Amino acid sequence: MHAIQLTGVKKFYREADSIVRAVDGIDLTLAPSEFASLAGTSGSGKTTLLNLIGGLDRPDEGTLTIDNLSTGDKSDDELAELRLHRIGFVFQAYNLIPVLTVYENVQFVLQAQRVPEREHKNRIMPILDELGLAAMAKRFPTQLSGGQQQRVAVARAIVGNPAIVLADEPTANLDSETAASLLAMMKRLNQERGITFLFSSHDPAVIAIADRVIRIRDGKVQSDDRKQV
Ligand SMILES: Nc1ncnc2c1ncn2[C@@H]1O[C@H](COP(=O)(O)OP(=O)(O)O)[C@@H](O)[C@H]1O
Ligand SMILES: [Mg+2]
Repeated sequence: MHAIQLTGVKKFYREADSIVRAVDGIDLTLAPSEFASLAGTSGSGKTTLLNLIGGLDRPDEGTLTIDNLSTGDKSDDELAELRLHRIGFVFQAYNLIPVLTVYENVQFVLQAQRVPEREHKNRIMPILDELGLAAMAKRFPTQLSGGQQQRVAVARAIVGNPAIVLADEPTANLDSETAASLLAMMKRLNQERGITFLFSSHDPAVIAIADRVIRIRDGKVQSDDRKQV
């Protein structure tokens, strides 16, 4: 059983007179329930790699399996379906929908998944509660702090019961205390719900919370260390 498996994955960007080898031959396996960090400086290939794993982009070479499903032979629609049901995303810039309330931003996923309306409240409120957002359900994103907005993004990422949550520099716009508390919440969700988390960061304090640190440099895995337990 693998949550994520990449074999020989490459993604190049062709510029006018050069090629950027953004992801340059990555082999990587994550087991279910891992809490892992992709570490690397800006430009090392973290975002490109997360977008490939999340099916937002396709590799030039190599194969990916997500939640034991191979993605290479899937149509764009099938890939979107896999993404909707098995993967949650958290982005650096939160990416909440400004005209929707906190509750509605989270509900959006259940609507897309065609979960019957009568089940929505029972699915959403316990998650908002767990993330300390229940009292803010009717607020709009602009009425929240950055840390609160990112917690809404985490709620949205997990409400659809994904196998995997991918978070691209989720704490980059947060102060260090807020970042630490967001990470602690993600860790708790990982432990309670068995969701695999893979988040990218270049912040040593954030990276230190991971059970496993995969260091990326020039689109390649430079080191892969599991914390001793
Ligand atoms: N859409 C794109 N077109 C051309 N080059 C890109 C594009 N996206 C990323 N790159 C390049 O690919 C490399 C890896 O970028 P990225 O995956 O964003 O790294 P990171 O997230 O670690 O900062 C960088 O050299 C970047 O400039
Ligand atoms: Mg990036």
